[in-house]
Amino acid sequence: MRFLVACAACLLAGACASLPHPNPADVSRAQARFPTASMESLESGRSAYAARCASCHALHSPQSRSAEQWLKAIDEMEKEVRLAPNERALIAQFLVTMSDRSIDKRMP
Ligand code: HEC
Repeated sequence: MRFLVACAACLLAGACASLPHPNPADVSRAQARFPTASMESLESGRSAYAARCASCHALHSPQSRSAEQWLKAIDEMEKEVRLAPNERALIAQFLVTMSDRSIDKRMP
């Protein structure tokens, strides 16, 4: 029951509180890879990830995978969920950027 309440609260908030928000350092890192990236595009990617990717399983932490693993996972998931091209690009931008945040801390 407590789990259900937590789940509902999560959905109501639009995203799990644990999903990190981009900061200015993330934006400059993102721009190295995605020249059009901005704080707004990363926030949109975060929202799209929370909105489109949490209906079947819990959201995976962006830092749980490398950039390459995310791109593969998004390809895989497109068999499960139909994403608009723009949506896909925003989700990829957010996940790839946030995964790089912990590049030194990731487990081997
Ligand atoms: C329609 C249901 C559904 C939706 C929506 C969905 N997934 Fe999944 N996802 C699954 C299933 C089922 C699995 C486990 C089977 C598998 O690995 O293919 C999975 C597994 C995963 C995995 C672990 C497998 C791996 O490659 O490491 C990741 C990461 C993932 N999903 C990310 C996403 C992302 C990102 C989105 C949004 C674009 C998303 N999922 C949306 C059904 C879904």
